Amino acid sequence: MTKQQEPKAIIVIFGATGDLAMRKLYPSIFNLFRSGQIDKNVAVIGAARKPWDHTEFRQHVHESISGKLETNDDPESFLSRFYYQQVDVTDETSYKHLHNLVNDLEEKYDTDGNRMFYLAMAPEFFGMIAQRIDRFGLKNSDGWTRLVIEKPFGHDLPSAQKLNNEVREAFNEDQIYRIDHYLGKEMVQNIEVIRFANGIFGHLWNNQFISNIQITSSESLGVEERFHFYNQSGAARDMVQNHMLQMLALLAMEPPITLDTDEVRSEKIKVFRAMRRIKPEKVDEYFVRGQYDRGEINGKPVASYQEEHEDLKGSNTETFVAGKVYIDNYRWAGVPFYIRTGKRMAEKAAKIVVEFKNMPMNLYYDEKDKQQPNLLVINVQPEEGVTLHLNAKSNKPGTQAEPIKLSYVYNHKSGMRSPEAYEKLLLDCMLGDATNFTHWDEVALSWAFIDSVIEGWKWKKPNFPNYQAGSMGPEAAHELLEKDGFHWWPIKDI
Ligand code: BG6
Repeated sequence: MTKQQEPKAIIVIFGATGDLAMRKLYPSIFNLFRSGQIDKNVAVIGAARKPWDHTEFRQHVHESISGKLETNDDPESFLSRFYYQQVDVTDETSYKHLHNLVNDLEEKYDTDGNRMFYLAMAPEFFGMIAQRIDRFGLKNSDGWTRLVIEKPFGHDLPSAQKLNNEVREAFNEDQIYRIDHYLGKEMVQNIEVIRFANGIFGHLWNNQFISNIQITSSESLGVEERFHFYNQSGAARDMVQNHMLQMLALLAMEPPITLDTDEVRSEKIKVFRAMRRIKPEKVDEYFVRGQYDRGEINGKPVASYQEEHEDLKGSNTETFVAGKVYIDNYRWAGVPFYIRTGKRMAEKAAKIVVEFKNMPMNLYYDEKDKQQPNLLVINVQPEEGVTLHLNAKSNKPGTQAEPIKLSYVYNHKSGMRSPEAYEKLLLDCMLGDATNFTHWDEVALSWAFIDSVIEGWKWKKPNFPNYQAGSMGPEAAHELLEKDGFHWWPIKDI
């Protein structure tokens, strides 16, 4: 199936009144309509507990897109495709009503029986809803049926396995689209293109030429209203098990035979299999955890994690993780992949720095002016772009060289707007392209890796809080690299 085809589908969103749908899904669907990528054969059913009718739901959707509207937009024609069904996910009659509405709309919008069920709600309901969709006949044998599942996919390997078994009782692996929204980001998708469409990187992308790779995703916000969920989760489960390790897999994987879903995902799975498992007793050699103390963000004082809500007092949950990951295979033996993520850090940014080994003999720099290594910087957000750091002749007299940068910034390209991650993923799902969704084997292997880190942390009470809000994390995160002879590259102006 090619991506140019116009999708036909009824999209059912469970959790339609929730935060994710409001902030991400409706604006993304709107952008897809506006750009003509979805049109007359797509309708959306919002399913949730609130006793709303279609009109109230449309008002809600209208609110969520109001910031995006331009003068020549026609929100009414967009909103007319939105329908609402009150649903209690535990109750059989709800599914019957939903079924009737899906049938009616299928005919009206001529969707060829294609159905996408998007679970944008609390994970404890994922398994039950999947099974009931099946049991109450909502899967349609005439068209395709796909199930989109938001994270968290489990809390650890056993719970993820249990959830997967429940979902798999009702859906095949190829009908399940597990979302990792980082895989929808333009520059994360660009990792493969940069690697596999450029000879200069293709040839150098290994342990002979690369000294280390650094992946940072930092946030300046704290935990806010999600504190309850976050306190059970922590940064390792919330960010590392999924987004950080997914970026790592794309950086480390072998070139796939083709760009087909199975080929790409099987190369990523091999990376997860090669990731050196960290013995719990060795965790401190590889991983650092942190929790933010009071500090300053943008010149304003902010509270510590434990002060954000009374339930967080005395919490041992980590809001920061830095780690060193080894991929024990022929290409990467000996090259550390450093990852770092946290809340209430100095900046909101996501960035990948590939540091190349220096020339064996340095002709142009003296000791006090050490030669800068070549860097390939992939800016994931907020700017999207690529920068290559080289050394070139300084225009001062003599033979000195100086570092220079070659930069390409995407967002500046003729005012082009990169599509939102969710926009791309929703469209991919409707077109049956699961490449940028995670296969169960990736999920299972990354949980196994993270579980042993978390197990190691249980043995010792952390000394929290240990980093100031507005900083780049605890001192130990810097030491992690220093003991290997490296340092974190800055996340700004690089
Ligand atoms: C989510 C996490 O998956 O990713 C959040 O649950 C985090 O805690 C968010 O804030 C970060 O995503 P982004 O796209 O803003 O970097």
